[in-house]
Amino acid sequence: MKQAKLIAVPAAFIAAITLVLTLAACSGEKEEVTLSTAQETAMSERLAPAGEVIMASDVASAPAASSGGSRSGEDVYNSKCTTCHTSGAAGAPMLGSTEQWADRIGKGIDTLYTGAISGINGMPPKGLCFDCSDDELKAAVDYMVESSK
Ligand code: HEC
Repeated sequence: MKQAKLIAVPAAFIAAITLVLTLAACSGEKEEVTLSTAQETAMSERLAPAGEVIMASDVASAPAASSGGSRSGEDVYNSKCTTCHTSGAAGAPMLGSTEQWADRIGKGIDTLYTGAISGINGMPPKGLCFDCSDDELKAAVDYMVESSK
């Protein structure tokens, strides 16, 4: 027991000295760090709380509507809406959560269509599916409502 203490004390002492020396060495190299606007933007995006910064570019783009025929509600959901509505990012009501959807469904389907097409609070217009037709958006809303009843 005594021997262990004798070894532990100098070890701790050496560790403390090393730490002080390292800190001193670091503070000695004070350099002005100037960030470019791009670096500042990148940094503030990294520092932003998770789930709040969602750029249009983060949302996978679905095949263009010009490929003929409209996409199903499920396809639109899986390519666009899932970004927020699967994780609940930005307070989006989650797919399959009857609790989170009950009040919204109570507002009537037309109100939900309008919210999806024009946006509402944190919900961006068209749910960021800019190449979606109104019918495709409505189909996606139908899919979400059906899956969350
Ligand atoms: C960038 C994140 C995001 C994306 C992408 C997104 N939503 Fe939303 N959505 C939200 C948020 C946040 C809310 C809750 C808004 C509120 O009521 O405060 C919401 C709410 C909704 C509502 C309820 C509207 C109401 O009136 O209560 C519908 C319907 C909806 N979204 C449909 C969609 C559809 C369809 C898509 C894909 C085409 C989509 N969303 C993509 C974030 C998103």
